[in-house]
Amino acid sequence: MTMFKKLFCGLVGLVAAAASSQATIDTSGARTAGCGKPHTDKGSLRHVNILSDNVNREFLVYIPQDYNPHQSYPLQLSFHGNGKDMSYQATLTRFTDPTINPDMIAVFPNGLFGDTAKTQDERCWQGAPYCTSHNDLLFVTDLLEFMRDNYCIRPSQVYASGKSIGGGFVDLLACTESPGGDFTAFAMDAAAMYQEANDTDFVCHPARRPTPILELHGTEDHTAPYNGGRSHNATLPTVRAVLNDWATRNGCGPSPVPTVDDIQFDGTVFYTQYDCAGVPSVVAGYNVTGQGHVWISNEDNAENGNHTALIDASTIMMKFFNANAKH
Ligand SMILES: *[C@@H]1O[C@H](CO)[C@@H](O)[C@H](O)[C@H]1NC(C)=O
Ligand SMILES: *[C@@H]1O[C@H](CO)[C@@H](O)[C@H](O)[C@H]1NC(C)=O
Ligand SMILES: *[C@@H]1O[C@H](CO)[C@@H](O)[C@H](O)[C@H]1NC(C)=O
Ligand SMILES: *[C@@H]1O[C@H](CO)[C@@H](O)[C@H](O)[C@H]1NC(C)=O
Repeated sequence: MTMFKKLFCGLVGLVAAAASSQATIDTSGARTAGCGKPHTDKGSLRHVNILSDNVNREFLVYIPQDYNPHQSYPLQLSFHGNGKDMSYQATLTRFTDPTINPDMIAVFPNGLFGDTAKTQDERCWQGAPYCTSHNDLLFVTDLLEFMRDNYCIRPSQVYASGKSIGGGFVDLLACTESPGGDFTAFAMDAAAMYQEANDTDFVCHPARRPTPILELHGTEDHTAPYNGGRSHNATLPTVRAVLNDWATRNGCGPSPVPTVDDIQFDGTVFYTQYDCAGVPSVVAGYNVTGQGHVWISNEDNAENGNHTALIDASTIMMKFFNANAKH
């Protein structure tokens, strides 16, 4: 037992004893109305329907195998890409694999269909130019309320992740006071962040400064190109410019300079980090040479054509989330 832990146990013996079987879960701090409610569907995906904006909305809820309703848990929402769905995102990210995600509740929301002829069979998220007819921000508000009412959530650790337009929606969430303010940190992979392009009238109002932001992107992404472009008749910004803008929003000044900006792992992974407002790596980006419009992974997945990377988006996101808890 370390010196710190001895001291901690001395101060709050009861709490520490209760948590000792599971070091990362704490029973202190704020709790939600769902604490104490038992659940049987542990370690598997529960399919939930709620009514939001008078529309039936769906999501999958994963709770750890050893879920204890009397302990509070971090919560993550993970949003799928265009044309995919909640089950696909659960499999793709491996956030239901305890070796990737040992102790977080993970929710996989389902998008509604797009509103153009081309996208009418494809599930998408608000922020896409072809996805303008539903209120996904309200859905997230209602979903979070359901989660707080039914599960034991730790409000200081609520996170969002997403792929492609799901990543674009995560950026959109980060730009809102509500429900963005309910989240602690935001992570994206191959994000299509249409709203960040300068030719729109979008205004970003984050609930907090700094707002922790992470993005991972393949340099061979031709759907949401790393260096920006056009898609669905709309402009996509360069990822680098968005990271810069987040650094500026986070207090790094009008011409932010990364504190780390170099090649890591064999010359294929470029890592960029900004430390703003005294918070190290509050904005972080990875670009990975040779990866396409995929969930970047060091294991084969449904998107990478068995062309694995030296890094794993899910693992990096978990680390980023756990390093950023609201205090
Ligand atoms: C893109 O915009 C142009 C000009 O408004 C229009 O003619 C064209 O049909 C649009 N294409 C798509 C795919 O929406
Ligand atoms: C938007 O325009 C400003 C001013 O020209 C620029 O500094 C910023 O990087 C641009 N952002 C994006 C995402 O292109
Ligand atoms: C990836 O990021 C690095 C900076 O970290 C940059 O030098 C490089 O040009 C980027 N790659 C591409 C393809 O833009
Ligand atoms: C990936 O590998 C598996 C098993 O070896 C194979 O069945 C599958 O076709 C491969 N996928 C691609 C896209 O090459």
